[in-house]
Amino acid sequence: MNTDWSRHVQGVMTLYLSRKLRFDDLFFEQYEKAFRLDKTRKLKILELGCGPGALAEALKRRYPNAEITAVDRDSTFIGFAKKQIPGVTFLEADVTRLPFRDGTFDVTVSNTVQEHVEPDAFWGEQRRVLKTGGVCLCLSARKGIRQTAACLAPTPEETAFWESLSDAPDAIETYGVGRFSVSEAALPALMEAHGFLNVTTHYAVIDLTPDAPKFPPETALLMIEAERQGELEAIASMDAGIRAVPAVAAVNRKYDERVRLYKAGEKQWDTSVSLTMILRGEKG
Ligand SMILES: C[S@@+](CC[C@H](N)C(=O)[O-])C[C@H]1O[C@@H](n2cnc3c(N)ncnc32)[C@H](O)[C@@H]1O
Repeated sequence: MNTDWSRHVQGVMTLYLSRKLRFDDLFFEQYEKAFRLDKTRKLKILELGCGPGALAEALKRRYPNAEITAVDRDSTFIGFAKKQIPGVTFLEADVTRLPFRDGTFDVTVSNTVQEHVEPDAFWGEQRRVLKTGGVCLCLSARKGIRQTAACLAPTPEETAFWESLSDAPDAIETYGVGRFSVSEAALPALMEAHGFLNVTTHYAVIDLTPDAPKFPPETALLMIEAERQGELEAIASMDAGIRAVPAVAAVNRKYDERVRLYKAGEKQWDTSVSLTMILRGEKG
């Protein structure tokens, strides 16, 4: 039972809500254009490092004929996904030793996983489990624009909390997060070097601006809630017990205020725009 990622790196709701937004139908056509998959076929799709399952959930919605399996080594994520998302097979497994026979899948896909996994194992296992002619899709988050609302600036309670933990171990270092990150030019070259053919790149732009009128209220409120959960889970990951109480209360007050301002139509124009690089390659 491995819960390192969900306990110390990114919590369940941090990942689930942020990805639910990134893979919302509002944005999904961008991915579909890059994926170039036949919706009419009963494709066997494997997602690697699925976390709490938001991409697998979106794939099931957008490719209803597909048979989708999704794996992650974190048991909390897999437990959450099994309860939350019907129609997908979720399994606890290590992507460097996939429990599937050679040539099982038509498609493999991953979102923000490549940078954490040793490249020979990451690409090699996907090539092994793909059928000849199968498609490997690799999604990778790139820099974007982030402008926080003034009402969401760190409060004195939060600042005091984080300062009190300044000698706590750094989860990013401890768990090797992002240890295999590479540039936008090196990533497609790496895919080719691992034997994939016809490699292409695309970029999806994900604009999360709650006050923009193009977003319906439920989506705008989900954007605010996703940020709240990210901050609360970051505090929870420190296992600080009662010391965390003032910071948690302060975060909730800030986000309650942000929701109030949204509902009152007092625009803040805070925004988080991210770029997702989408690589597509084929097994020859
Ligand atoms: C940045 S998270 C992304 C999760 C998910 N793809 C998403 O976008 O919500 C990276 C994920 O990779 C998983 N992971 C890292 N190394 C792994 C490995 N060797 N085998 C299986 N999962 C792994 C972590 O548990 C975590 O869920």
